[in-house]
Amino acid sequence: MEPLRLHLNELPWPPPKEVLDAARKGLEKLNRYSDEKKLQELMFKLGDYTGIASERIILSPGSDILLREAVHLFTQQRKVVTLCPSFLPTVTSARQTTNQLTRLRLSLPDFRLNMDLLKSELEGPCLLILDNPNNPTGKIVISPDEVKTLLEKEDVLLIVDEAYYEFSGITCANLVEKYPNLLVTRTMDKVFSLAGARIGFGLAGDVFLKKLSDFFIYLPQIALYACLAALDKKELMKERVNFIIEERKRLVEKLLTEGVEVYDTSANFILINSPIPEVVEELKKEGILITDLSHQMPQGFIRITIGKAEENNQFFNKFQKLRNRFGLTKKYDE
Ligand SMILES: Cc1ncc(COP(=O)(O)O)c(C=O)c1O
Repeated sequence: MEPLRLHLNELPWPPPKEVLDAARKGLEKLNRYSDEKKLQELMFKLGDYTGIASERIILSPGSDILLREAVHLFTQQRKVVTLCPSFLPTVTSARQTTNQLTRLRLSLPDFRLNMDLLKSELEGPCLLILDNPNNPTGKIVISPDEVKTLLEKEDVLLIVDEAYYEFSGITCANLVEKYPNLLVTRTMDKVFSLAGARIGFGLAGDVFLKKLSDFFIYLPQIALYACLAALDKKELMKERVNFIIEERKRLVEKLLTEGVEVYDTSANFILINSPIPEVVEELKKEGILITDLSHQMPQGFIRITIGKAEENNQFFNKFQKLRNRFGLTKKYDE
């Protein structure tokens, strides 16, 4: 049996029929690089979706690749400042390109970003990368107004990674027209049920736009066709997002009732602190995949993607059984 995938922050439903039909059309053109007109059309549609001029859109096969490219292009002679914990591939990429890397720790009790500390780190030429909401805490670490104050600083380049924007509803997108030193990255992979298609995009301020548009990006045909069709299904996407938000609330309440430490989140996953030894391995044996964060956070922190109602129940029931097995029932905690 297929394992239950609650480890990569994907949406649990496949794309709708119209998107699959469009992807098949793309499949028939696999001998060709993608058509430039179709790529233009995608940029227009993304412009319309985000409310940003389509000329500012940078396409990418997954936003992780765009983040890596931006890091490689903009770290020369710059200090890189990121968060800890945060989306790891971007950090790894920064490690490869600079030896001036600072990671600001988001600490308990609520993983708040200390703005004074952040500002004190931004002396001299810097590249600052913030995932907002942050992965894995799910926290909105910075407001658009706070972002503006950072963008006023000379010498600061800022990347705001908004992979989970549709869940948080908070964005810095409209700042890219005014601030040349801002890049906002987004993805179609999460809320549009297209993780297997791998399409991300950037909304680029002038400094980023100049360098990132040096290369022409031919997206894979199947992904391109699927993505164009998905942008015609925004209502369905919103329904799915709302469903996940409701399910997230329900699961959080159930876990809190059990006395589990759960943190506030604005994404399609939750962070919990679990004293069950080897919880990730134990659940894997039961066919449930979740994410162990011990490489970035203290022992016991795990991230769980919100799935369909029955999937969340399955996780909860197995998790509760494990708690009982290890004598961690609510009664025991009190
Ligand atoms: C914070 C964050 N940024 C970027 C990405 C990359 O998304 P993708 O490469 O699928 O567009 C992820 C994926 O999990 C993420 O969590």
